Amino acid sequence: MRNFDEITITDAVIDRLSGASDRRAAEVSAALVRHLHAFVREVRPTIEEWERGIAFLTDTGKMCTNTRQEFVLLSDTLGVSMLVDAINHGAAQGVTESTVLGPFYVEGPPEKGSGENISGGLVGDPLIVTGTVNAPDGTPIRGAVVDVWHSDGDGYYDVQQFEETGGLAMRARFSTDGDGKFSFWSIRPAAYPIPHDGPVGAMLEKQGRHPWRPAHIHFMISAPGYRKLVTHVFAEGDKYLDTDVVFGVKDSLVREFIEMPAGQAPDGLIQNSPFFHLHYDFGLHLS
Ligand code: BEZ
Ligand code: FE
Repeated sequence: MRNFDEITITDAVIDRLSGASDRRAAEVSAALVRHLHAFVREVRPTIEEWERGIAFLTDTGKMCTNTRQEFVLLSDTLGVSMLVDAINHGAAQGVTESTVLGPFYVEGPPEKGSGENISGGLVGDPLIVTGTVNAPDGTPIRGAVVDVWHSDGDGYYDVQQFEETGGLAMRARFSTDGDGKFSFWSIRPAAYPIPHDGPVGAMLEKQGRHPWRPAHIHFMISAPGYRKLVTHVFAEGDKYLDTDVVFGVKDSLVREFIEMPAGQAPDGLIQNSPFFHLHYDFGLHLS
């Protein structure tokens, strides 16, 4: 077969997949060719535009390191990560909704006991976070592993400012008690822009978009017999809730970080100055 034109080239490429031994690989490849060709037929790029597209993908790859995944950032900012999340995690009664993982998770965070302060000595508005982890029917889960991580009051994670923090901070691993409860002290996080000094930042600029995410705290929760939950809790009232650059906000994940006067905190500690309190009850899906 030869002499393909704008239309016949698509089936010619798909026909060439008939020898694939892996059915899923053939299915995914055929869909990729079909949609990619349709995209090119719609856009009708000039040769220079095609070269710019190749250069963009090349730069995106070159930006990737062990600690920077520009392709995931591209997926996040084009809404693909949340689309994959929606396909794989439908809403279910008693189960907390999920959202993107993001690039700032660190494997094996420091293990802390209930009520410990994880701020690493960073200055900010004191915040106590209390929560529970439950089965879909509301039964508390004992021994659930709760990983948390968040930014500081200027919007920076520890991994972006090791000179200041001197190591990991504002991240930890907790284990729920017999009532499914956990709690910790830290500082109130702020909204922040995603890393936008690379090709994805340039893309956002061209698209007339800002790079900001509303203030949030990340949670990754697992327990035997349940699906791992990857989610955040967002700060009610944040000005970026409706324009999150990665489309990750769901109403069910928004909570007030309640400002409390000096006095007794929910864990019984006496605070000499005002502080904030966030509470969330998480529900895990049976596996
Ligand atoms: C984050 O919340 O840490 C995040 C998520 C997606 C892209 C960039 C950052
Ligand atoms: Fe984040």
